[in-house]
Amino acid sequence: MRKNIVAGNWKMNNDLAQTQALITDLKAQTKTTNAEVMVAPTFTNLYSAYEALKETDIEVVAQNMHFAENGAYTGEISAAMLKSVGIKTVILGHSERREYFNETDELLAKKVDAALANDMRVIFCFGEELADRKSGNHEQVVEDQIKNALFHLKSWDYKNIVLAYEPVWAIGTGETATPEQAQDMHAHIRKTIADHYGYDTANSVSILYGGSVKPNNAQEIFGKPDVDGGLIGGASLKAEDFFAIVNAF
Ligand code: G3H
Repeated sequence: MRKNIVAGNWKMNNDLAQTQALITDLKAQTKTTNAEVMVAPTFTNLYSAYEALKETDIEVVAQNMHFAENGAYTGEISAAMLKSVGIKTVILGHSERREYFNETDELLAKKVDAALANDMRVIFCFGEELADRKSGNHEQVVEDQIKNALFHLKSWDYKNIVLAYEPVWAIGTGETATPEQAQDMHAHIRKTIADHYGYDTANSVSILYGGSVKPNNAQEIFGKPDVDGGLIGGASLKAEDFFAIVNAF
């Protein structure tokens, strides 16, 4: 049985004091569902967030990491460093990393390998751009992103992989994929995994939707059979809204 997951990606928002205030607000909220809940503060706030939330069932996760164990990579963070402050899950391949930091499928494959080699769980993000959708090429684009970065893995690696489909045109734009568009793509993603690894693996992998999920649309999106949760940006910065989404299952 795959898990329902709602993860809040705080991106490059909130300094230390703001992060602590948001965590205080999060702790005041009540979770009514069985969904796993995660939040991803920026690197400088990971340790204090981990300390503040370690007795709760909210997991603190990282937004990125480097593939190397250590060395001359100024400004980068390794899996071992993340693990040393309690972090066990990392978001990789977010469209903002792909767009602004030139992260390619090949680079992401190395990052995925490094995370798995360090017994970390990966939330692997991908999704088409507006031009791909307009040209009807969106399924192929997504399929290629998954194949290029993940198909060298063994089926058992997927117990530590969560997939996050985020159409780039829906991120931070207020424009959401319709629940039907999300379901169609999630079903295609699951079939892509099934064709290569079989349905046992495909049915065990959680596939999250991301892109302008809000309290008023979460229930309909999460109600679709192949949507197992969400990766939430803007709406995760307010505890009340985030928990309204968590409780939308
Ligand atoms: O990581 C989260 C996604 O980029 C979605 O962001 O909810 O602000 O559209 P958004």
